Formats: sequence, C-alpha cells, structure tokens
Amino acid sequence: MKTVAFPSLDPILKGGIPEGDQILVSGPPGSGKSIMAMQFIHEGIQKGENGVFFTLDSEREYLISQMEGAGIEVARLIEEGKMDVIELDPQDIYVLLDEMERHVKRLNAKRLVIDSLSILYVYCGSYRNLPEDLIAFLEKTKYQPPITLGSAVKKQMLYSMMTKIRHLGCTTLLISELAKNSNWFSRDTISEFACDGIILLDYHILGAAGVTRTLSIVKMRRSNYLEGVHEFRITEKGIELTRD
Ligand SMILES: Nc1ncnc2c1ncn2[C@@H]1O[C@H](COP(=O)(O)OP(=O)(O)O)[C@@H](O)[C@H]1O
Ligand SMILES: [Mg+2]
Repeated sequence: MKTVAFPSLDPILKGGIPEGDQILVSGPPGSGKSIMAMQFIHEGIQKGENGVFFTLDSEREYLISQMEGAGIEVARLIEEGKMDVIELDPQDIYVLLDEMERHVKRLNAKRLVIDSLSILYVYCGSYRNLPEDLIAFLEKTKYQPPITLGSAVKKQMLYSMMTKIRHLGCTTLLISELAKNSNWFSRDTISEFACDGIILLDYHILGAAGVTRTLSIVKMRRSNYLEGVHEFRITEKGIELTRD
C-alpha cells in the first residue's frame, strides 16, 4: 500500500497516511486544525507533491499571514506554483465542486484540505443544492420545502459530496469543527463513518500555566498507528509533538 508522508506526525502515524484516503481532522476552535492541515500541504511539497488548501470561512490573505506567523512558509510556495490557498463560496456546492476540480488540475495537486466540512454541511441542505430530480419531484408534488431541509437529507448530501471529493483523487484532510467535549467527531455525525481516518485535536486549559494540546488517532484504516493521547505544541515551526 502506498502512503503519503506526514513527517511531523510520523512517530504516531508510523509511515504516513494511506494514499488517496480522506481523513477527518476534528477538534474545537483553536485546537490547531488549520495549522496542522497547512503543515500537511507544506510537508507534501517537500516530498515533491503539490497541494491546495480550500477555505470556506477565512480570507485567503488572513490565512496566509496566520500560517506565516506560525512558521509555515506559504507565500513563497504559492508564488512558485506548488500550492495555493483558495477561498470558496459554500452557497452553491456544484460550483464549489467544479472549482475544486479546476484547482486540483491546475496545480497537479496530490494533497487537499477542506476547511471546513462543517461549513459545507450547513449549506448542503439548501434547496438550491438538491439534486435536480429531487427538486423536480418536490415541484410536481407542490411541496413547499422549508429553506433548509431536514438532517437526513443533509447527511445524504454530505455523504455524496464526500464521494465526489474522493474522486478528485487526492489524499484529503477534511476539517471538522467540534464543540468542546463533544460526543461526536463531527457536527454532521455522518462524516466520521464515511471517512478513512480521524485525527482528534484538543486542548486543556491549565490556568495560568497555559494549555496542554493533545492529538489522538481515533481511526486510520489500513494503518498501524500508535494509539493513545499524544501531547503537542504549536511553535514557530508549526505543530511539534512533545517528546518525553
Ligand atoms: N506562532 C504561534 N505560536 C504559538 N501558538 C500559535 C501560533 N499561531 C497560532 N497559535 C495557536 O494556534 C491556535 C489556532 O490554531 P488554528 O489552527 O487556527 O486552530 P483551529 O483551526 O483548530 O481553530 C491559536 O489559538 C493559537 O493558540
Ligand atoms: Mg481553523
């Protein structure tokens, strides 16, 4: 089985992420999901694999400057055509999928980040995003749908989106926003079953002493990862596992 390297996490992943897999990176706000995902793209470029980071909720320039501040050199690699950070409008998911495909081809990208799947889930249930046959059916029955459809339809839509994203052929990190102490690994409660792996990030506030950041692999198909909860820090070099 071929894997893609992720050297920062290698002591835990023990050989990288299976090529072409979809990995959910879940955690509460501020837990380091975006930084980890950008590092994944960055480390890919060092291995000769281009990447693209799609953001649905941040401004491109803001994100680039945040990553530069966390020690992940992004601006130069964008100039060199090895990666890009692309803002996508989540309102029309068919346009969004076309845009994703266009940029993956343009950059010959092998690694993909979607920040975040949770935003996509919010828009999945919009009436305008339903498949044409379902819209035709609803119109024929004169059913007046609410602006946002029920969670079963949204879950189906998200599942089908994930399949389409998988067909782009990249190894993909899907970022999933969680409430602190959530019982799930995603807001949508479906992507954790549909994905191939889950990396869970968290932090624990220690009063004036600061925070302890932790990372655990909850699931990784086809991989012999190290179980347990592992501490990491965010430094001027990005995410660094704490060695004891
Ligand atoms: N240069 C830095 N040095 C140390 N910590 C940083 C640095 N830049 C960001 N951080 C930490 O990273 C956190 C944000 O990480 P981010 O990846 O944006 O989180 P998430 O995407 O999970 O919301 C901030 O809350 C901050 O504590
Ligand atoms: Mg983020």
